[in-house]
Amino acid sequence: MAIREVTVFGGSGFVGRSVVRAFARAGARVRVAARRLAFVEATRTAGEVGQVVPVIANLRMPDSVRRAAEGSQVVVNAAGIPFQRLRQRYEAVHVAGAAAIAEAARAGGAERVIHISGLGADDRESRNPFIRSKVGAEGAIVAGFPRATILRPSVVFGPDDAMFNRMARIATTAPFLPLVGDGRARVQPIFVGDLAAAVVAAATRPETAGMVFELGGPRVFTYREIAALVLRQIGRDKPVIGVPAALMTIGGWLAEFLPVPPITADQVGLLTQDNVVRAGVPGLAELGVAPTSVEAILPTYLDRFRAGGRYNREAPI
Ligand SMILES: NC(=O)c1ccc[n+]([C@@H]2O[C@H](COP(=O)([O-])OP(=O)(O)OC[C@H]3O[C@@H](n4cnc5c(N)ncnc54)[C@H](OP(=O)(O)O)[C@@H]3O)[C@@H](O)[C@H]2O)c1
Repeated sequence: MAIREVTVFGGSGFVGRSVVRAFARAGARVRVAARRLAFVEATRTAGEVGQVVPVIANLRMPDSVRRAAEGSQVVVNAAGIPFQRLRQRYEAVHVAGAAAIAEAARAGGAERVIHISGLGADDRESRNPFIRSKVGAEGAIVAGFPRATILRPSVVFGPDDAMFNRMARIATTAPFLPLVGDGRARVQPIFVGDLAAAVVAAATRPETAGMVFELGGPRVFTYREIAALVLRQIGRDKPVIGVPAALMTIGGWLAEFLPVPPITADQVGLLTQDNVVRAGVPGLAELGVAPTSVEAILPTYLDRFRAGGRYNREAPI
């Protein structure tokens, strides 16, 4: 299916910006729905003049969501919050926001809805408030738009990502690199460009309607292996020290008083669990996307954390 017009909610975010670029490259007109236009500026140059258009929308205001989605053939939900602050609650943004998007897509005549969720969002028994809201969001999307396609990525990496940049930043300043627990939980990082390609592929393939995909990169790592990889990449030799999860949870609670908490108690909970795709669930391959390795991409953005700067490495010739 050729896509003419798409609305990307969360188009100003890390994942959303890549999704906007991928749709623009595919020739679609893209409405970037965001709360603040200033944050959309970076995506305006993703297409021809007038191809990428910002629209103001707040998931907590269903009327604005309806206006942003009206007449779009494809509606993507790439919005979310990593922690709760003031009116930005998991229930309001993830669950009620997903319901508003599904309803707006249906009312606006959309053919496809692509909902970016996360691995673990099928765990109805989870006591983690973040995961519970992701479960609720999937339910709300399907209730309002049963033919929605759900994509559940593992941790996403790429320039401006949260996890790899944060680890590298800590490694440049702290005497050691802390890990949650023993660091043996597993993760399968997916490149943000591959996730964006998966969104476009799902949107263009009608047979993916109503399906759930679990998306991960080509390799499974433990968090301890990820820490070693980051240290190697930035050329720093620091001890990697496991901090008991209970202690990190207390740190996460305290950090939630900061304007932008570096970690929250909910995130500590996530870092103690495996975050890998399950065998037998459709994934990148079924969407025709070849996964990119972490090793191929990390040097393009972590080099700035190298001791002595980006160019402090042996010349290849
Ligand atoms: N990054 C990962 O490793 C990862 C892994 C698995 C799943 N995911 C999921 O992928 C989605 C995107 O993640 P991300 O890393 O791109 O997050 P991000 O960089 O924080 O972007 C989140 C986006 O959501 C928007 N948003 C938040 N509250 C909103 C509201 N009330 N109304 C409208 N827009 C709102 C933000 O816009 P404002 O600037 O206006 O706040 C921003 O554009 C999330 O659902 C996340 O859970 C991410």
